[in-house]
Amino acid sequence: AGVIDLKWTVEYMHWSPDCIESVVIGINGNFPGPTITATAGDLINIELTNHLHTEGVVIHWHGITQKGTPWADGTASISQCAINAGETFVYSFTVEKAGTFFYHGHYGMQRSAECTQTRQEVDLSGVPIRFIGEPQAILINGRGQYACSAAAHFDGKAVCSPKCKPEPLKVEPGKTYRIRLASTTALSSLNFMIQDHKLDVVEADGNYVERFSVDDLDIYSGESYSVLLRTKEDAKGNYWISIGVRGRDSDTPPALTILNYLPTEWEKHPNSAPPVHPKWNNYTHSKSFSNKIKALNAPKLEGYNYKPPPEKQNRRILLLNTQNTIKERIKWTINDISLTLPSTPYLGAIKYSLDKAFDQQSLPDRYSNPDYDIMVPPLNTAAISSSAVYNLPSDVTIDVVLQNANMLKDDHCEIHPWHLHGHDFWVLGYGEGKFIDAEHEGKFNLVDPPLRNTVVVYPYGWTALRFRTDNPGVWAFHCHIEPHLHMGMGVIFAEGIEEIKKMSINKKALVCGLTGEKFMDSYKE
Ligand code: C2O
Ligand code: CU
Repeated sequence: AGVIDLKWTVEYMHWSPDCIESVVIGINGNFPGPTITATAGDLINIELTNHLHTEGVVIHWHGITQKGTPWADGTASISQCAINAGETFVYSFTVEKAGTFFYHGHYGMQRSAECTQTRQEVDLSGVPIRFIGEPQAILINGRGQYACSAAAHFDGKAVCSPKCKPEPLKVEPGKTYRIRLASTTALSSLNFMIQDHKLDVVEADGNYVERFSVDDLDIYSGESYSVLLRTKEDAKGNYWISIGVRGRDSDTPPALTILNYLPTEWEKHPNSAPPVHPKWNNYTHSKSFSNKIKALNAPKLEGYNYKPPPEKQNRRILLLNTQNTIKERIKWTINDISLTLPSTPYLGAIKYSLDKAFDQQSLPDRYSNPDYDIMVPPLNTAAISSSAVYNLPSDVTIDVVLQNANMLKDDHCEIHPWHLHGHDFWVLGYGEGKFIDAEHEGKFNLVDPPLRNTVVVYPYGWTALRFRTDNPGVWAFHCHIEPHLHMGMGVIFAEGIEEIKKMSINKKALVCGLTGEKFMDSYKE
């Protein structure tokens, strides 16, 4: 295993990702940031300097489990203090295994909001709420078209900035290519397709899956995949690559780029119109895709050891996802609790037993009313905001069942892609309606459930997952839709509290709030 040392500067820059110039957050002058290429077992050190003028920053390494380094998870208020403008912080962690991962800001709405994050935060907590709204454009590798059409670039029209020019995927006939996909969207669920070509799915969230072939693939925020593309032997010309919006009735046009068969010029227009995506609310199509994903069971593959889950859980946590009005504001609530983050990072508060740093109430493993009707807007007015956590002991098996339900608006229930920090989990199954233990646990897939770090819960349905508490730390588990998390849609797992107290935690991660005060006091003494 090697060591990879990187120096990054985070800064504002003028850029035109969708052909309209605005201020975006870049790294070392690049938008999107640099790709890190590493081998399983490598140690990565990233010296990050914040050159944003007044704004803090943190970076989360999505899908990296951070075993032994929970302070490097890059979550403000959870694993560390925000890195202030002008400051430098060094992330240091090991990449456990091969796969496709991505990184992103994890401080307020910074992941989605370029430099309008404060605006979006104020809008979301206003009375009445001003929702952030659908995106104008979808970007592929940081490039998309709003004021321009993809075709305008081919015609060499000067109105389109070269910064938003689509990046073609150049291929040769008769070969197999691996395409790594990740969805980093703030709001939208996506559907990926390549005109007239099949895609063979082989990886999901850094885990091998039993290979299967599809015409198009749904990808939710926080998910990643590898697909194999077999190019045609006798291709003439180019084909469209298209990414459309799913799960929301949106006017956002699909993002387009070109599958370019060399030696054809990439600017040569494909022979027919771009392919048509499945309808946004065709959930049958989406569910059939989800249900095809099975873990690869190949004991002879070197360095690969898929283990099916333990037969039984030690504890099951059933989480009702809905909305509620709290102090006149619309919030997402989980078992009637809307997550608010404290100013002292949980990891430090727990390490140093600073109980005043966050709410100490214990959280419910079930929603309170077993007869709750998930088909109607919530009537319950008992909802509260809280920074309390779920305490999970080490070395046990935890089930989480996500239960979707109608939101405040009649006949509305949305898709939520839930992401767990610090772990992969087995996806045991999906179902319609209400989850009933006795009825549904017998149908869990315990043979080859896929390992993931993000999983979707469909409208009016449930999703069950299982994991082992083998990684002491404080881990967020939340909807990866940025405004949903910001409106409280998440829970915090404090895992292995006794081990955290004994662990060595990088103090530089904790120089704020009550941990910061504690360090100052010990300096005085
Ligand atoms: Cu990629 Cu807490 O998220
Ligand atoms: Cu959500």
